This record gives sequence, structure tokens and C-alpha cells, in this order.
Amino acid sequence: MPIVNQKNSCGILANEQFPVLYVSGQKGQSVISDEKPEEEDFFRLPNLTAQDFGDAEFKKTYGLKYALYGGAMANGIASADLVIALGKAGCMGSYGSGGMRPDIVEKDIDKIKAALDGKPYMVNMLSNRNAQAELDLAKMLVEKEVPAVEASAYITPSEALVYYRLKGIRQENGRIVIPHKIIAKVSREEVLEKFVSPPPAEAVTSLLKDGWITAEEATLADKIPLADDITVEADSGGHTDGRPLVSMLPALIALANRKQAEFGYQQKVRVGAGGGIGTGLSCLGAFEMGAAYVVTGSVNQGCVEAGTSDYVKQILAETEMADVIMAPCADMFEMGAKVEVIKKKTMYAQNAQKLYECYVKYPSFEAIPAADRERIEKKILRDSFDNIWKNTKDYFSKADPSKIPQAEKNPKMKMALVFRWYLGNSSRWAVQGNPERKFDMQIWCGQAMGAFNLWVKGTSLEKAENRHAGELAELLLNSCAYHYMKNLLIRMGAAPETFREDIL
Ligand SMILES: Cc1cc2nc3c(=O)[nH]c(=O)nc-3n(C[C@H](O)[C@H](O)[C@H](O)COP(=O)(O)O)c2cc1C
Repeated sequence: MPIVNQKNSCGILANEQFPVLYVSGQKGQSVISDEKPEEEDFFRLPNLTAQDFGDAEFKKTYGLKYALYGGAMANGIASADLVIALGKAGCMGSYGSGGMRPDIVEKDIDKIKAALDGKPYMVNMLSNRNAQAELDLAKMLVEKEVPAVEASAYITPSEALVYYRLKGIRQENGRIVIPHKIIAKVSREEVLEKFVSPPPAEAVTSLLKDGWITAEEATLADKIPLADDITVEADSGGHTDGRPLVSMLPALIALANRKQAEFGYQQKVRVGAGGGIGTGLSCLGAFEMGAAYVVTGSVNQGCVEAGTSDYVKQILAETEMADVIMAPCADMFEMGAKVEVIKKKTMYAQNAQKLYECYVKYPSFEAIPAADRERIEKKILRDSFDNIWKNTKDYFSKADPSKIPQAEKNPKMKMALVFRWYLGNSSRWAVQGNPERKFDMQIWCGQAMGAFNLWVKGTSLEKAENRHAGELAELLLNSCAYHYMKNLLIRMGAAPETFREDIL
């Protein structure tokens, strides 16, 4: 008859072998066991485990064991291997298609599908200034029958995203069947409202006119929400609005519920939580605030399966919560947009800030004072402005040739494009682990990484080489379940000292 005491408190709580717990005795001195006590006065409790957390319908919709997914990480950092590891563990991974060549994305999707053999996965669809590239990606995802996308960075849903959503939608026995699921990642109220609403009518009309969707698909559009699920993303690694989860999540869940009541859909749009999740108790906090599921990001980048260099993984394993900072980013550089990055062992944040300040202050590179120009060319670009402009032109001659004559006429724009060469390459140097560019690496990371490192200190998970994404996801949710049961039992009268302090 296992009894909860300091020795075995982890062994019995949230353990599938003991589905029911019995609590007896007086308040403050309760005894918890897995066998019915002899006393007459006792409580009977279901012993919840990792699988019991999160929305049951969410897990059913995607075919998941656990209500957790790993968010996309651009440049293939959320690699095929990472997505496969999470899928095999009963969670789901979102493949980091951002910044990847289409042929590589295609190959990686084939690899994921073959390895997972029907198990769940997603591919990231990122809002893209190049509408054709986004449409090409959506078309490929439809052709490859990718079952779900994680849609992010959208302010307004694009035609490409609406196409993915509506292609193949049909009515069967009075129910609308939607083959393509969307989980939209948002951090603003107005964006959430757009994803809880049906796909925008203008996009539907235009897609119908151009033959992308059929009349039946267009007719059903206003009966479904654009997204099945909304991930509310609080302060996180990479692009972030830096808002705290505890403020945002309950408010946005209420907003989503209010908004969808206007439409009377057949299905409920669920809301999950991401940003800052690096410990079991962070997962529990999110579930207790009403999250249908939780999303991890930064912690996965440090895992063996992530598509980044061992050098970066080593830095991530040593990162503390205070080691992250906001710094200018490559896309939207001119608008002053920022990303959350590591500030330890790299000068990226300072260098990018210097480039941004010069861009804002001066009309051209030539107008920057000589000493600053020298510092930029020698210490940051490590080449002359003119040489980098030649490289930049080569790039744009394939990617978007119209930019070249515009920049030749507009010296401020030319300066921005050259500076963006540095900002864009700095994240690739991190992925490659380029030893020449150690101090220029742009490593996206949020506070969740430091929180995780502190949490697992003194265990085998301190070492980067022991971190596997699937095991880590299970650890987070097992810990979530353990702490839920512990807190519940303390509220029901168990003495807090009964529980060991060293359980993760
Ligand atoms: C290295 C890195 C790259 C990221 N790239 C993307 C991306 O391409 N698309 C996206 O939707 N989110 C991206 N994110 C956000 C994650 O998917 C996830 O939502 C976020 O990291 C969760 O917050 P956390 O970092 O605090 O755990 C990235 C995050 C990191 C750490």
C-alpha cells in the first residue's frame, strides 16, 4: 500500500500505475495511498497523468497523445528530425519552413511523412511580402496533403492561407469536412479576431474568380472559422511583442469565446498558450488559465534533433534567464522591429543596434561619420560597404530584381539592404556554427531557455547532448501532472512537507 511520504511522493503521484488515490486522515496530516483505507472517512481522487491535460477535442482533432506542440523555428531549426521526434513522442512539431529553399522544404516534408507514417505534424506558413512565394508554398502543401499548418506573423490573412484553408472543404451528411487545419499564432487582439472569423470575403471572391477554389468551396467559406486553434504567444524567442502570458491568455480566451459566439460554428475555436514555457509548472500555469494546449519553442532549439550547430546548443545549455535581450531583426529592419536573442558570447545585439541607429540617423552610408563607418566596415561587416553591396545585388538579381534600380537611386534604401545582409547572414552563421563569425551569431531565444536550465540543473539534462525533444516534452507534461496532483492534495489537507522538494 504505497503511502505518500517524502520518499515515494513522486512514485505515486501522476503515475499511470495508480489510477486512483485515496486521501484519509485529518486536515494537515492526511495520508494518501493507492489502496482504499480502512477508515470510513476518505476522499477518492483520479490520479491525473500527463495525457489528461489540455483539451480532449484538440488532441482528437490532431491525433495527439499530449496537448503540446513544438512551434516552428525558421531556417529549418525546427528540422525534419525535430518534427519527427515530437510526432513519435505523441506531440506534434511545426516544421520551420521560414527562410528555407522550396526544394528543401519539399524534401523535408517527404522525410517527415515517411518517418511519421500518419502521425501528426505541421508546417509553418509565415506571412510573406512575396505573395507568389507564399502561394507556391500553399499549393505545395495542398498537393502534399499536409494536414495542418501553423500560421504566423499575419496581420491580415493572405489569399495563400485562405486557399490552403478552403481547398477540399466539403459537406458530408450535413457536416462540413475541413481537410486542412490551421493553428494561428497571434499576440494581438485584432489579429485573433480575424482568425476566429470566417476567411475574409475578398480573398474568397478573388480565389474563386481566378479558379483556385470551386464554387462549393467558396459557398462553405462563411460557415467556418479561418483557424481551428489560436496560439496566444506571449514573450518568446525570436519575433515577439514581449507581453506576459498571465495577462494575455485569460483575456484573449475570453475574447475568442465572445467573438465566435457571433458565428455559431459547428466547431469550437480553441486557444492554446506559448511563450516562456520551460518548466512543468509553466505548463500547469497555462492549463490552469484555460489553455487548450501548450507550445514550446526556445527549449527545443537546444535539443539534439534541432537544426542548429552544436556550438549554439552549447551556448543554449549555459543560458540564464537574464542572458536574452531585444535586438533589431533582418525582416522589417527599417520599421525598427526587434527579436529576442541571446546576448551571451555574441555581439549581435550591439552590432545590429549600431547599424539601426546609423540607418535612422543618416541619409546614406557616406553621411555616417568616418570613425563609425570604419567600425562598421572593419568590425561588423568585415568587408567594404561597396563589396557587400555587390553581394547584395547578386542576391536580389534572383530574388527581386526590381529592388536594385530602386536602391541605386535611394542611398538610404541601399544602406538598409547592405545592413540587412549582415542581419540576415548572422542567423545563418549561428545555424552553421561558423567559427569565423562566433561574435556575430544571431541566436533567437526567450526566457524559457534559462528557466529550463535552472530547472534541470544537477540532472543529466544539464548537458546539451542529453536533451531530446520528445523526452523533454514528456518531462514537461509529467511534471505538470505531478505538480497538479501535489497542489490539489495540499489544498485537500496533505501536509506540504510530505512532498519531496527535489522532484522536477
Ligand atoms: C530559434 C527560434 C526560431 C523561431 N522561428 C519561428 C518561425 O519561423 N515561425 C514561427 O511561427 N515562430 C517562430 N518562433 C517561435 C516559436 O515557434 C514559439 O512560438 C516560441 O519560441 C515559443 O516561445 P518560447 O521561445 O518562449 O518557448 C521561433 C522561436 C525560436 C526560439
